[in-house]
Amino acid sequence: MKIRKAVIPAAGIGSRLLPLTKAIPKEMLPVGDKPVIEHTVRELVASGITDITIVVSGGKSLIQDHFRPNPALVAQLRADGKTAYADAVAEVGDLSRLGHITYLDQHGPYGNGTPVLNAARNAGDEPMLVLWPDDVFVADVPRAQQLIDAYESTGAPVLALMPMAPSDSQRYGVPVVADDRGDGLLRITGLMEKPKPEDAPSAFAAIGGYVVTPGIVDELRRQTERWYQHREGEVYLTDAINAHASRNPVFGQVISGRWYDTGNPADYLVAQFASALAHPEYGPLLHQLVAETV
Ligand code: G1P
Repeated sequence: MKIRKAVIPAAGIGSRLLPLTKAIPKEMLPVGDKPVIEHTVRELVASGITDITIVVSGGKSLIQDHFRPNPALVAQLRADGKTAYADAVAEVGDLSRLGHITYLDQHGPYGNGTPVLNAARNAGDEPMLVLWPDDVFVADVPRAQQLIDAYESTGAPVLALMPMAPSDSQRYGVPVVADDRGDGLLRITGLMEKPKPEDAPSAFAAIGGYVVTPGIVDELRRQTERWYQHREGEVYLTDAINAHASRNPVFGQVISGRWYDTGNPADYLVAQFASALAHPEYGPLLHQLVAETV
């Protein structure tokens, strides 16, 4: 079945980036000349996704303000002869229409499976892409498209993977790899959350991009029902993936491209710096500054 729907969980408080994220949602922090979440939305639209649900919580209205079309502002800018600004504002507003962006308030138990389950109510039997808005990719084929391609060739859930230094294993889910199908497609039998380097089952990190199928949504539903019975624990996508993988095929796709994690201060600075260096207009200035100061 073709993938048309995507979910961006954006309800978290961004604690790793406090106090920067005290008033500004982490999804709205700039990387280059766009907020992080706009990179994610553009990637989805470029990959043919026509139905994007952004799952939010209180304090996230800046995300809505950013994507909401503002024809009055565009008209004013055009009347003032500020065509480039008018075009830029109109283009961001157009993403709402192209990606048919809707917003959903997160509700339910703590854990990153909850926004996925919330959004799945509108997905019926369709598979959905789930992308944490923490990662920025520079890739010839968008990361979302690479995940869609892997799903179309396997018909099974797919996790986005990147090669990882052993010392990073305690920051990521690390897949158990069963076999290598070529072109970066790996069959996996599970995901170990944040193992010590000596316990890591492979040298890949799950980087917060998933094709979630109805089978995984069923597992999330079961976990959530259990949570309401016992009122303890959390609802985690990793647990649902592991439960599903114990009885069904699950794949990982090693993404080809450059990956920037923006979810912690050090990597966020690297992402900003790298995108500034790569900027077609302002990059040369930065290169000059670096040459002068290093
Ligand atoms: C989550 C997932 C983990 C994944 C990571 C990527 O962890 O549970 O498997 O590697 O996102 O960012 P979190 O960073 O929310 O603790």
